[in-house]
Amino acid sequence: MEFRRVTIEDARLLFEWRNDPETRRMSRDTSELTWDNHLAWLSRRLEQDDHGLYIAALDGSPVGTVRIDKDEISYTVAPEHRCKGIGEAMLIAAKNLFGPKIAEMKRNNIASAKVAERAGHIVRFID
Ligand SMILES: CC(C)(COP(=O)(O)OP(=O)(O)OC[C@H]1O[C@@H](n2cnc3c(N)ncnc32)[C@H](O)[C@@H]1OP(=O)(O)O)[C@@H](O)C(=O)NCCC(=O)NCCS
Repeated sequence: MEFRRVTIEDARLLFEWRNDPETRRMSRDTSELTWDNHLAWLSRRLEQDDHGLYIAALDGSPVGTVRIDKDEISYTVAPEHRCKGIGEAMLIAAKNLFGPKIAEMKRNNIASAKVAERAGHIVRFID
C-alpha cells in the first residue's frame, strides 16, 4: 500500500467516491455534493502545505483516500474495492505514517469501526 499526496488531478475521483451512495449514507452530511462546491473545497484545501489529503494505491492503482485533520482521520475505500481487506490495510499504513488518530463514525458503520480498531486508531461514535 503506497500513499501519495492528493493533487487537483484527483478531483474527479474524490468527487465520485464522496458521492457514492454508501459513502454518503455513512457521512455526517448525507447530501449529494455538487461539482462546483467540491472543486472549490479541494482547491482551497490544496493551498495548504500540510493539506492532509492522500490517495492510497496498490500497484499504482488508487484504491482509497485518507484525510488527516490534526488528531482525526477520515477515509473511504473505492466502492469497487470494498470488503476485500483494503480498508484495514490502508488504516494500518496510515497509522504507521501518521500515528494513531481518532476515527469518528456513525454507530451502524460496523465495517469502519472494525477496521479502525484493528489498525489501532481510536473509534468515536457521533450518534
Ligand atoms: C468502511 C470502509 C472504509 C471499510 O473498508 P473495507 O475495505 O470495505 O473493509 P475491510 O474489507 O478491510 O473489512 C471490513 C470488515 O467489516 C465487515 N463488514 C463489512 N460490511 C459490513 C456490514 N455491513 N456489517 C457488518 N460487518 C461488515 C467485513 O466482513 C470485514 O470484517 P471481517 O474481516 O471480520 O470479515 C469502507 O467500506 C468504506 O469506504 N465505506 C464507505 C465510507 C465510510 O464508511 N467511511 C468511513 C467513515 S467514518
